Amino acid sequence: MSCVTVEPGGAVIKLNLDNTIMRFHAIWLRDNACDSETRDPISGQRLIALREIPSETLISHAQVEANGLRVTFEPENKVICYDFDWLIENNYDKGKNLRTGWISTDQETWDSGLDLLPSCDFNLLMEKSTSTLNWMADLRKYGFSKIAKGPVEEGALFKIIDLFGYVRETNYGKHFEVRTEVNPSNLAYTGLALQAHTDNPYRDPVPTIQLLYCLESSAAGGENMLVDGFKAVMRLRDENEGYFDLLSKYSARFEYKNNKDVHLKSRRPIIELSSDGELLAIRFNNRSMSTVNDVPFNEMSEWYAAYRRLSEIIDEPDMEITFRLNPGESFIVDNTRVLHARKGYSGTGKRWLQGCYADKDGLNSAFHSLKKSLAEETHNEA
Ligand code: FE2
Repeated sequence: MSCVTVEPGGAVIKLNLDNTIMRFHAIWLRDNACDSETRDPISGQRLIALREIPSETLISHAQVEANGLRVTFEPENKVICYDFDWLIENNYDKGKNLRTGWISTDQETWDSGLDLLPSCDFNLLMEKSTSTLNWMADLRKYGFSKIAKGPVEEGALFKIIDLFGYVRETNYGKHFEVRTEVNPSNLAYTGLALQAHTDNPYRDPVPTIQLLYCLESSAAGGENMLVDGFKAVMRLRDENEGYFDLLSKYSARFEYKNNKDVHLKSRRPIIELSSDGELLAIRFNNRSMSTVNDVPFNEMSEWYAAYRRLSEIIDEPDMEITFRLNPGESFIVDNTRVLHARKGYSGTGKRWLQGCYADKDGLNSAFHSLKKSLAEETHNEA
């Protein structure tokens, strides 16, 4: 049974939906009215500014109907109906006792025990079908995914980015080549093994997606390795909450410059949290770490201990998954979460990857749009 009461004064209503009690403020309900005078029916964009809603807005009447709640606002004498499903989805009258460093329910952390690497064949991906949607869901969930059986041709990486967004061009170009060079200007172009890292922490904002596409792989070694940065910082938090707090509380500094016209700098923490404690991003790249001078003197020693411990956790073998990329194979990572690395490889033979950056907002948008259109197709066929 459902019922609603208007609290004295009309600033709050209390809705009881099958014994779940939710309170809503009059101003919140009025601001979120879904009528065509308040929101554009097509885009959902709000058509009025808050200043156009009277500050003295109150609820004079509320009543439960078949599938929703009918509310009358004063002094506008405006009547708005709200779906129960929408009210449940947006209910904010609940205790949030989430531990600092929480992640979205869409995400799942992993380590070397991850049984099956998320993957999709290139041709299936291009169909923009359920396989594409599942691949996007996995990428959002695990922060990475492989793409197999793609064409062995230059520029094929752009076809994958085209599925969900746009290339993020940088001073390295629209894309970059990763192969051995005689005079490397960046360590990524040599045959040395690299520690797991996130790319370009010296940018603000960082590129949130990276794609690496293999075109040639005849050299021994050079396997790709990934580490879930969220898993690593959660392990740090479980071991030593003080270490976690230090790395999220104080900014580190990152920097990259060449000898010509590029000098990038950022000032951000290694562990970035939202104001309510959600784990947003990690930045970890020993090559690009600059001089850290934002940690107070009496905490610098402990900050270094925390940084060292996180580095050790990232290097632990049980944190990593390793795979070899063959020509036509590629992988994509959420560069705010998953660290990548390359094992060392021999100088005989060749290894050639093309890489590029893109952004997660495009991926999330494409995921939600494709999910909706596939659901509508299914509905129309039924
Ligand atoms: Fe990298």
